[in-house]
Amino acid sequence: MPSGPDNLDFAEALAEQARRVNAVLTERLDALGQVPPRLAEAMRYTLEAPGKRIRAAVVLWSCEAVCGRVVPAALTAAAAVEMVHTYSLVHDDLPAMDNDDLRRGRPTCHKAFDEATAILTGDALLTLAFEVLARRVADPALAVAMVRTLASAAGPEGMIAGQVEDVLATGTRGELELLERIHCNKTARMFAAAARMGGLAGGAEEPILDGLTLYGLKIGLGFQVADDILDEAAGTDQLGKTAGKDAEQGKLTYPSLIGLDRARRTARELTEQALDALKPLGSAGHMLGLLARELLERTR
Ligand code: IPE
Ligand code: IPE
Ligand code: MG
Ligand code: MG
Ligand code: MG
Repeated sequence: MPSGPDNLDFAEALAEQARRVNAVLTERLDALGQVPPRLAEAMRYTLEAPGKRIRAAVVLWSCEAVCGRVVPAALTAAAAVEMVHTYSLVHDDLPAMDNDDLRRGRPTCHKAFDEATAILTGDALLTLAFEVLARRVADPALAVAMVRTLASAAGPEGMIAGQVEDVLATGTRGELELLERIHCNKTARMFAAAARMGGLAGGAEEPILDGLTLYGLKIGLGFQVADDILDEAAGTDQLGKTAGKDAEQGKLTYPSLIGLDRARRTARELTEQALDALKPLGSAGHMLGLLARELLERTR
């Protein structure tokens, strides 16, 4: 996020959402019973690392946009989304995938522990996310709707599809259509699920849920385009993860395929499309709109 005075209110609002979800994440870790100490330690190490909690903020602001406040089910959903996201990072960093040593400013899970522990920590976080939704969302119909939304975004037609095609496309020069599909699946679908789950928690009807979902897809695709740009244009200290790795590994990215300028233009266009998708919400969509604009300027 940029840190000028104009952005301080937004930064503080985002920090407040992060505090809220962090409290739930810690509560859920504290509530675990008989877990082998090494696994419990690795789950805490990854989940309590300083992630930006953007997807959690999308859940919480989407809920606020439709019902004016953050309801308990939205907090549970925000925690579940961050668990699935964190699992995806632990696995993404593994030697068999992106082979990264640094994540959230710390050694990656497989570096701090070992590869088997990292694989199993990812498995544990993914499973726990769905247990938390099933157990802690009081309304069964809402719990099922959330499970369905998160599972389809994270599963074989969503994030995993994107990660598989990302791996297969490494070292190739694919077409823009393939790249957009990869980025949509591996990243944007989770943002769309976050927005939709927030809307579900707030009791939104279908047309509003569809608007939130489209908003999530657009900011999510823009988020991954920006991630590609930052990998090329920012430094390791700033990012808290190794910069320059995409080019080194021959990843198919927006800057590698269309250049930095066109990639930046694409991110701006996606932001405009995200703002359009929020129109049905009127002024209630204010924070989501601010988030879309701020993500365009992000520096980490
Ligand atoms: C990193 O996501 C992975 C991508 C999809 C680009 P974030 O940049 O949101 O990572 P954290 O949660 O802040 O560490
Ligand atoms: C990660 O994309 C997407 C998922 C984890 C699903 P990247 O591989 O670009 O993310 P970083 O750059 O390692 O955070
Ligand atoms: Mg990757
Ligand atoms: Mg990676
Ligand atoms: Mg990246």
